[in-house]
Amino acid sequence: MEYLNLFEKYGHEQVIFNVDPEVGLKAIIAIHNTVLGPALGGCRMRKFASEKDAVLDVLRLSRGMTYKNAAADIPYGGGKAVIIGDPSVDKTPELMESFGRFIQTLQGRFTTGPDMGTNLDDFKYAKRYTPYVITWEEKFTTPDDISLNTAYGVYMGIKACLKQVYGDDSLDKRVVAVQGLGKVGYNLCSYLSEEGAKLLVSGHHRDKIDRVINEFNAKEVGVDEIYSVLCDVFSPNAVGAILNDNTIPELKCKIIAGGANNVLLNEKKHDIKLYKEGILYAPDYVINAGGAIAAAQQLSGYEYEKVRKKVDNIYNTLLKIFSISKYEDTPTHKAANVMVERKLKKAREKRKMYYKI
Ligand code: PHE
Repeated sequence: MEYLNLFEKYGHEQVIFNVDPEVGLKAIIAIHNTVLGPALGGCRMRKFASEKDAVLDVLRLSRGMTYKNAAADIPYGGGKAVIIGDPSVDKTPELMESFGRFIQTLQGRFTTGPDMGTNLDDFKYAKRYTPYVITWEEKFTTPDDISLNTAYGVYMGIKACLKQVYGDDSLDKRVVAVQGLGKVGYNLCSYLSEEGAKLLVSGHHRDKIDRVINEFNAKEVGVDEIYSVLCDVFSPNAVGAILNDNTIPELKCKIIAGGANNVLLNEKKHDIKLYKEGILYAPDYVINAGGAIAAAQQLSGYEYEKVRKKVDNIYNTLLKIFSISKYEDTPTHKAANVMVERKLKKAREKRKMYYKI
């Protein structure tokens, strides 16, 4: 694999491979773009089928963070880390400490925190060696604050989509198909059911499925059936690339709005396909920015009210993107990209001027 060419293609500044055999750590940190500030993005831990898959995932995820942070006006650039391993077996305090030492070598060029397979608590071990991690703090409302904010933002984003499609943002009696019942999926189900939505859910863990059935009266759907159920909203909250040539023709929803990253297998092609099918797609990095907003706020002194206000604003940002999409007859993901790329270009020009002085 021609890695440097690949980094160039994705627009990356720097990719760092980290190995510590003593604790079994294999991690990749990808810094995509620091025009808006030092990079900020979560750290994902999971097994990968191959090393190449891990590289591609971290490249796609870190590029997504540049767009996410820019779209939400978060003064940070984009980066992401992956740790290769099974979090339920391989995630030890020693491994997280070692990871913290690697983060510290970057001297603040990259700050990280929880993502799939990691939580706020894990980072207390990394924090022994570096200040550049988001960990649990007493001012947080719950031990799960980052994903709670992601879920809340997705909930607000779903309301914006309902407003756009039906002219009314109430969730009462709306049918939402939720894929993935991890930290984000579970909390999202809670927000949705509180407002009267009917939930169809799919997941891979029996205990997590039973929990939402018991707590929110959700109905279980098979992991392959979730794409084809009749619903108002399909909400992906697990891994990426799940909207592709196979799944899009199966969809019977009006809206796609969820917390997962990189939902479209092929950004251009599948964005157009959904647009042509008349399905409203909430661009992933816009609707799932709640956790990033909370993480960035933590770095400048966390204030609950400020976080809530910024996360609430996902509703308006999405409506703005939908209106650009309509006005310019362009798919929604593309409309969001154009908005972000304009911001990045402006920032780059300003930075050039700053360097000249
Ligand atoms: N992992 C989440 C995301 O990628 C939240 C997060 C953002 C965590 C930034 C830490 C830093 O959006």
